Amino acid sequence: MLRTHTCGELRMAHVGQTVTISGWVQGLRDKGSLLWIDLRDRYGISQITIETENSPKELVDIARTLGREYVISVTGNVAERYSKNNKIPTGDIEIYPDKITVLNSSVIPPFTIEDETDGGDDIRMKYRYLDLRRNPVRKNLELRHRMAIETRNYLDKLNFLEVETPVLIKSTPEGARDFVVPSRMNQGEFYALPQSPQTFKQLLMVGGFDRYYQIVKCFRDEDLRADRQPEFTQIDCEMAFVEQEDILNTFEGLVRHLFKIVKGIDIPPLTRMTYADAMKYYGNDKPDIRFDMKFVELKNTSQNSPLRVYPEHLSKESGVRGEAFPIFDKAELVIGICAKGAADYTRKQLDELTEFVKRPQIGASGLVYARYNSDGTIKSSVDKFYNEADLKKWATAFNAQPGDLILILAGEKHKTRKALSELRLEMGTRLELRDKNTYACHWVIDFPLLEWNDETQRWHAMHHPFTSPKPEDIELLDITPGTVRANAYDMVINGVEVGGGSIRIFNKQLQARMFELLGFTKEQAQAQFGFLMNAFEFGAPPHGGIAFGFDRLCSLFGGADVIRDFIAFPKNNSGRDVMIDSPSVISQEQLDELGIVLKK
Ligand code: AMO
Repeated sequence: MLRTHTCGELRMAHVGQTVTISGWVQGLRDKGSLLWIDLRDRYGISQITIETENSPKELVDIARTLGREYVISVTGNVAERYSKNNKIPTGDIEIYPDKITVLNSSVIPPFTIEDETDGGDDIRMKYRYLDLRRNPVRKNLELRHRMAIETRNYLDKLNFLEVETPVLIKSTPEGARDFVVPSRMNQGEFYALPQSPQTFKQLLMVGGFDRYYQIVKCFRDEDLRADRQPEFTQIDCEMAFVEQEDILNTFEGLVRHLFKIVKGIDIPPLTRMTYADAMKYYGNDKPDIRFDMKFVELKNTSQNSPLRVYPEHLSKESGVRGEAFPIFDKAELVIGICAKGAADYTRKQLDELTEFVKRPQIGASGLVYARYNSDGTIKSSVDKFYNEADLKKWATAFNAQPGDLILILAGEKHKTRKALSELRLEMGTRLELRDKNTYACHWVIDFPLLEWNDETQRWHAMHHPFTSPKPEDIELLDITPGTVRANAYDMVINGVEVGGGSIRIFNKQLQARMFELLGFTKEQAQAQFGFLMNAFEFGAPPHGGIAFGFDRLCSLFGGADVIRDFIAFPKNNSGRDVMIDSPSVISQEQLDELGIVLKK
């Protein structure tokens, strides 16, 4: 061993001992008569102190050749420090070396390897192995390790078996785009990398495995965002002989266990919200419920109400002055939120919010606001159309109090809900209602089974084609497929979808009917998914499951939004690994062997 101790473990109790530690030179200060080296390893930093005048010349010479990130081994005596450093755990001691061995030199690193670094994202990704030496990155990966261990502990105690499923599988038309791998031995044919082990875990249930899990890599060729990577990890689980309630309870248990053991937090029981309510009150199927600020509808034509700007109970006596505000008049939906205590927002802040909702990604045409001042008066940006009595009625509808700010959007219903959802999150952030150390976890349940896709002009499975309709809605499949609800659920933490799953179809006929609804011919369904439907003929048990986005879960536990920081070697936003420079071209010889001719 090139060390007796780590750089992080020496304390007053070690004073007087001769120790050997090894690590990287984090910093070097040479004051002439005194020379200090900060030596770092995974466990911490120890200070090496050399009194140059009282030390052998060779030792001092070696110390003076060192540079940042040199790898050295130091043998010396642990002593109490004269001036202690209470910022680091080893700050009470220092080491007076007898021997310094240079194990390896280093060129000057391209960025400082400290908690606060001067390196931008690109350079840190290119030299990821240097970034990994930094505490914040290492801590994230330590957290990930702990989460994986505790996941395994919890599931193992409940009799779940970890089973590996294949990585070279078959491309299927549903879901995101597949990454494909050409087969040399079967030219012209391709494997696909799994988007998830979905069909395999169902086949494990047919195989009698009853409780399966796997911490598993999944691959999806989709546009990247802060919470999406092309290869990511799931905690993938499946259970047989269960109903939705059993899955919700088992996996609420997993998340509670992780919070308790990893973060020392007892989270309250998870609340449940239907998909319909999530969309109605938050415009979003993964609402952040750390704060309330629910949507209030002033007008909704889809609910058969005549055009009006007030909820029914208000409209009769509302007394709109003259013509109603034309934008509200024309809009399919007039909907808003009440930002508590924000009536003192300045004109500039309100202009900023207007700019925010008008950004192309959000797409609203404008923002109407009403300030309910603390003196009880209400002033709006549409005072020309509405008098104070009208506005008071709005305030009642919004349950607003003096001091609150009402923000209203109008337009086409889906777009407007989506835009208001973004505005709600923005207001939550501005009003500091989204503290990273507060966790609001809940289930969203009763998702629709299908969603209509205008582009392809057909129904798509909202979760995936193996999800079971609610038994009580099955007869609607032939009448109004869009209204059929599924036994599908998502777990949401702080507005992030951390997991999703469903009870599965386990009957061949129902599965075939589902493929038919999704626009497959019998032959296509058989060719793509015949293996699963055939398996259902051999006594498939009722089953269901869930998969958690492990990277997302880790980043939430680590108080971050970007999952990349919790992956040792992530891809950048263009899906590239800039460290190994991948994807990359392959040789003509390889292409020939695979029978691939590239388009010029
Ligand atoms: P789903 O597609 O909802 O379900 O995925 C489950 C969870 O995986 C995470 N996730 C991602 N994380 C990072 N990068 C990505 N590109 C990415 N895509 C998804 C999310 C999501 O909630 N087989 C089903 C599960 C089941 O029905 O049991 C499935 O994969 O946190």
